[in-house]
Amino acid sequence: MAIPNALSIAGIDPSGGAGIYADLKAFSALRAYGMGVVAALTAQNTRTVSGVHGVPPEFVRQQLDTLFDDVRVDSAKIGMLGTSAIARAVSDGLHGRVPSHLVVDPVMVAKSGDALLSPEATATLIELVLPLATVITPNLPEAGVLLRARAPDSLSEMRRAAEHLRRLLPDDGRRWVLLKGGHLAGSALADATDLLHDGDRMIELSAPRIDTRNTHGTGCTLSAAIAALLPQRADVEAAVREAKAYLTESIRRSGELSVGTGHGPVHHFHRFWNTPQAR
Ligand SMILES: Nc1ncnc2c1ncn2[C@@H]1O[C@H](COP(=O)(O)OP(=O)(O)OP(=O)(O)O)[C@@H](O)[C@H]1O
Ligand SMILES: [Mg+2]
Repeated sequence: MAIPNALSIAGIDPSGGAGIYADLKAFSALRAYGMGVVAALTAQNTRTVSGVHGVPPEFVRQQLDTLFDDVRVDSAKIGMLGTSAIARAVSDGLHGRVPSHLVVDPVMVAKSGDALLSPEATATLIELVLPLATVITPNLPEAGVLLRARAPDSLSEMRRAAEHLRRLLPDDGRRWVLLKGGHLAGSALADATDLLHDGDRMIELSAPRIDTRNTHGTGCTLSAAIAALLPQRADVEAAVREAKAYLTESIRRSGELSVGTGHGPVHHFHRFWNTPQAR
């Protein structure tokens, strides 16, 4: 099968655990050629985001135009956009050439708790960006903001929220919501359960919850993994199941890395690197 060209449109996390750098690692580990259009720079480590510097929207647009002029984009993911103007530039830049596989991760808050999306940008995200997606991947607080409701805090509330979220997407039978349950019940559960919903089927995806602080970039890694796999698998369900399994193993093996003193990154290349601890 041809190697897909996968694009991340997102922010830069210098610590490499989240954002475009993490996306490129996930793309590479899952056999996709990785590319990145930078929407925002952050000053960030595993503990905090100390600053955000949005790329001028015209230059986000120029990156997209120049790339698409030359390169076939088989699949893309959209992550941190930062501001309403940048979200608009991305939506305009994709006009008429939305990749057949597009994952939108509506990033709003970093693992450290720092805001990554201005409040007025939420409306732009809902109006202009979410409708382009094949799959959207909100976490529970993001689901609350998108639905203007309290964040779901049980599996049954998650089911209802997934149904409501699906209604934010076009009704053409090819759009999915992946509602991520990482934040459920103060993380005291044995499983990390996500719901995958297409307006018809409600698929529960459970994996063992790993007891670790190394969850920096789990959301970025999952959405990038889905984007890498969508062109390579028979359907959305198969791509998402495999992406979740890849993420779970990346979290499980994160202790082989030693990066920072806060929420450390996951191990994107666990399949390829044989570290002594692994044997
Ligand atoms: N400790 C854990 N062990 C296993 N899986 C986890 C754990 N924490 C989260 N996950 C899974 O990781 C994925 C990301 O979920 P989460 O809800 O944490 O997203 P997020 O908040 O967007 O992450 P990020 O803060 O990195 O953006 C989901 O599939 C979730 O089930
Ligand atoms: Mg996230």
